[in-house]
Amino acid sequence: MIELAFSILASDFAHLADEVAAAERGGGTIVHIDVMDGHFVPNITFGPPMVKALRPITKLPLDCHLMIEDPDDYIPAFAQAGANMISVHQEVCRNLHRTLQHIAEHKALPGVVINPATPVDTLVEVLPMVHFVLVMSVNSGFGGQQFLPLAVDKIAHLARLRKQMGLNFRIEVDGGVALDTVASVVQAGAEMLVAGSAVFEKGRTEQNAVELLRVARAAAPAG
Ligand code: DX5
Ligand code: ZN
Repeated sequence: MIELAFSILASDFAHLADEVAAAERGGGTIVHIDVMDGHFVPNITFGPPMVKALRPITKLPLDCHLMIEDPDDYIPAFAQAGANMISVHQEVCRNLHRTLQHIAEHKALPGVVINPATPVDTLVEVLPMVHFVLVMSVNSGFGGQQFLPLAVDKIAHLARLRKQMGLNFRIEVDGGVALDTVASVVQAGAEMLVAGSAVFEKGRTEQNAVELLRVARAAAPAG
């Protein structure tokens, strides 16, 4: 099932509740929250208080993409604030298996993220324990960057692995997903589409979401 995970990083923060409502009316079904620490990535965004503030204004699942060092230290706080999905970067986890267990123990759905330079095969051992894999199609850190086509082959590779291993984790993609790139990632097997700029640009949030989902669903493989 194709789903739109709208990234609030690109929204108008002064009207956050209205922005979330508009993206939801446009068909968005996941709120994607980009957590950045100024260490793992060169940008600082939000922490658990943002998750807590969003929790009462929407029933949609809150998807926390942790671009932070030492994510284990913060998983309990994000879970307690209301995160439903928590993903961590392969690149920062020395004990990735344990960190994913930690997320599940806190009753959130565990996901693992790989940056563009990280091969899919580094995840093989943990695939049976994740609910989703997030393939970055830009280098983590900022919204509004250009889509990197190398993500398409990585998504297709993951979809093949999933079949070979008899698993059912979901594939999420993040970065530069827009009207001109969404078909390629959907055709390769991505189902959870993160989009920030493409949803919130030009003050047309609802229409942008409708249009992006329409193009994505038209490209979805049958079945
Ligand atoms: C980048 C973030 C993305 C970002 C996507 O590090 O993980 O979620 O907000 O923004 P767009 O859709 O503008 O590329
Ligand atoms: Zn993200």
